[in-house]
Amino acid sequence: MTRNLQGRRILITGASSGIGKALAQQLAPLGAKLTLAARSEDKLTALASSLPGSPLVVPTDITQEDQRRRLLERSSEHFGGLDALVNNAGIASWAHFADSTEEILRRIMEVNFFAPAELLRSAIPFLVNGNQPAVVNVASMCGRRAMPAWSEYSASKYALCGLTEALRGELARFDIDILLIVPGLTSSEFSQHFLRSEGRAQIEYDKGMKPESVAAAIVNALRKNKTETWIGGDTQWMLRVNRWLPRLVDYLLARRVRKLYEAK
Ligand SMILES: NC(=O)c1ccc[n+]([C@@H]2O[C@H](COP(=O)([O-])OP(=O)(O)OC[C@H]3O[C@@H](n4cnc5c(N)ncnc54)[C@H](OP(=O)(O)O)[C@@H]3O)[C@@H](O)[C@H]2O)c1
Repeated sequence: MTRNLQGRRILITGASSGIGKALAQQLAPLGAKLTLAARSEDKLTALASSLPGSPLVVPTDITQEDQRRRLLERSSEHFGGLDALVNNAGIASWAHFADSTEEILRRIMEVNFFAPAELLRSAIPFLVNGNQPAVVNVASMCGRRAMPAWSEYSASKYALCGLTEALRGELARFDIDILLIVPGLTSSEFSQHFLRSEGRAQIEYDKGMKPESVAAAIVNALRKNKTETWIGGDTQWMLRVNRWLPRLVDYLLARRVRKLYEAK
């Protein structure tokens, strides 16, 4: 099955920066009718005014139930329905679990799991009447191989991956496709938004993929209806090695953490 994105009514969360913004910039010229959601109204308005097709801006904190409902209603009323939901908004914390807090764990689960899960549930009645309807869940390499110092984040993305797999069967009866996106390190504004940033390993965020590359892979996944898309060299090799040698990966990661913490 292929999907022509011309005229498709697509709602993107986390559209104010990084991957979500790049996705809007690639979908708008294809003729998609976009709804842009995030908390930063000024950034969404500036983005919408730079794009063809007059995207709809709906400032939304996805962790708030009333704001999620309003987002779906406004999008559906404005465009006369909904064809795709892209659950892209996300946050992270880069530090060790032992000295983290319950508040951080709950916040990450709220933004990365509970909010997209509930937005998805509420979107089903709208998507049922859509044209080749789809949900795109943006997870992470950490949702397929959890990593030290990304404990809360990995847990939230594993939960999103698990929900996605379970719903693939459930949503089939509504003819709604559910696509999983698994990016590796991306040079967006992600690291500037971390709740904590105390990991000791050196991560060169500026050497990550461009958000435009991730967005192009999402567009390709939507077009070709790809069930799961691994993006980036780091994702490809880590998930392949981990598939066959998970204990070796565990051992190497634990050794690395020990060294980092011995050194200080
Ligand atoms: N960057 C990476 O290395 C990487 C790797 C793998 C996966 N990912 C995933 O890719 C997705 C996009 O991340 P990015 O790299 O583009 O990061 P980003 O530049 O920080 O963008 C995150 C987006 O999420 C929005 N957001 C955060 N909290 C929100 C809330 N409560 N309600 C509504 N929107 C909210 C932000 O907008 P506002 O602040 O305006 O609300 C922003 O638009 C995330 O799910 C992330 O986990 C990123």
